[in-house]
Amino acid sequence: MEKPWAVILAAGAGTRMNSSLPKVLHRLCGKPLLWYVLASTQDLSDRQVFVTGFGSEQVRGYFGEQYLYVQQERQLGTGHALQKALPYLPDQGEVLVLCGDTPLLEERTLHELLDVHRKNEAAATVLTAFLADPTGYGRVIRGPEGRVEEIVEELHANAGQRIVQEINTGSYCFDLRALKKLLPDLRINSQKGEYYLTDLIPLLLKSGLRVEACPVGEPRFALGINNHVQLSEAAAIMRQRINEKLMQGGVAMMDPSSVYIDAGVEVERDTFIYPQTILEGETKVGQGCRLGPGTHLIDTCVEAGVVCRQSVVMESRLCEGAQVGPFANIRPGSVIGPAVKIGDFVEVKNSTIGEGSKVPHLSYVGDTRIGTGVNMGAGSIVVNYDGRKKHQTIIEEGAFIGCNSNLVAPLTVGKGAFIGAGSTISKNVPAYAMAIARSKQENRDGLAGRFLGKKEKK
Ligand code: UD1
Ligand code: CA
Repeated sequence: MEKPWAVILAAGAGTRMNSSLPKVLHRLCGKPLLWYVLASTQDLSDRQVFVTGFGSEQVRGYFGEQYLYVQQERQLGTGHALQKALPYLPDQGEVLVLCGDTPLLEERTLHELLDVHRKNEAAATVLTAFLADPTGYGRVIRGPEGRVEEIVEELHANAGQRIVQEINTGSYCFDLRALKKLLPDLRINSQKGEYYLTDLIPLLLKSGLRVEACPVGEPRFALGINNHVQLSEAAAIMRQRINEKLMQGGVAMMDPSSVYIDAGVEVERDTFIYPQTILEGETKVGQGCRLGPGTHLIDTCVEAGVVCRQSVVMESRLCEGAQVGPFANIRPGSVIGPAVKIGDFVEVKNSTIGEGSKVPHLSYVGDTRIGTGVNMGAGSIVVNYDGRKKHQTIIEEGAFIGCNSNLVAPLTVGKGAFIGAGSTISKNVPAYAMAIARSKQENRDGLAGRFLGKKEKK
């Protein structure tokens, strides 16, 4: 059997979001709402059509040109939106119609919808849900025999209809022949000034066609997002879904309710995640790592066996066996080499640190290439900025940088060189040289008392 087409309605402004961003581009666990709806149709259907309007350029820009976009200039309702797509659809077969704001619906649920539709040879099948609190949704009104008769929006529902707990999820399967024949006949709802897609149901029934309802197994997944409160509710559900999938795959979490992982992030088995850890964007984590507590990784690649505690890492790579933190800040463009140790209160920016090197305490390393086996003493600072420009520093393998040194870039510290503590180094240091640049110490006998107000001890 041929795969159905899919039409995703995504033209609405999302007034209730109170935002200048189109509603369907608001992020849920890192991806736009619409991304999830699209993903749920990807195997089921090979032709997706987006109906866009408000912010259509942004939507197109995000998803790219491999999809068909239909423009709905004025948002005159869900029925009007589907009417706009109608000329692009084939004359027969099936079409799934989905809302861009129901990101929790899963692919298997759409499969069930299609199955019910096909088994009953229906003209329309509505995906419904039984909700304890149906507020805000269209209510599914069934006749005495239990057959669907109409869908009434909350605004128009009478008291008897309002208590109905079966709601319209906004997802449907239609027979295209019936749709092409009757969708153009929708009348505008004068109270709201919109064409309701749901008004198609009575039209189909009047023509003697069959309408079915398919209730979803997990009603929570029918959540339609109209405001930020609902967005946060959906995020909690999605987060749980993401964490559970990772845990099934062998990732351990001390308290999954406080672990925030974006859709699409990969974490391999035997990695342990402590609370208050956030993994965002294109982050990938290898096997056997320990992350957190309080670690925030953004677009970062973490190789196997890394330990990263109470730290922020952005657009960087932590190589195998590296240890970071607690309290490190790794900024974009950094490569923390294998078995490197980055300790507390260390900031690294746009720098490469070679295998086995150590930056254990209170340092800043910017625009620097550090070789293997280098030791950066406590408080050592790379002075990469002269107020106008950033300059590069190279520290070759095996060099030892004494505590509290300033390395004024541009600068090369040669292989195996030794820098005395407290030096401000502004000239290149040859390989294996010892450099010291600090004022000489004077000791004046017995003078301490003058400062401390104490008598000199005999
Ligand atoms: C709609 C349904 C309601 C259902 C609910 C499920 C109608 C009349 N009502 O109500 O029965 O319970 O969804 O979440 O269909 N859109 C357009 N063009 C428009 C208007 C809307 O593309 O002119 C798109 C929106 O971008 C959105 C979707 O259609 O993705 C639903 O629109 P929305 O305004 O959220 O409908 P609801 O009031 O939630
Ligand atoms: Ca909605």
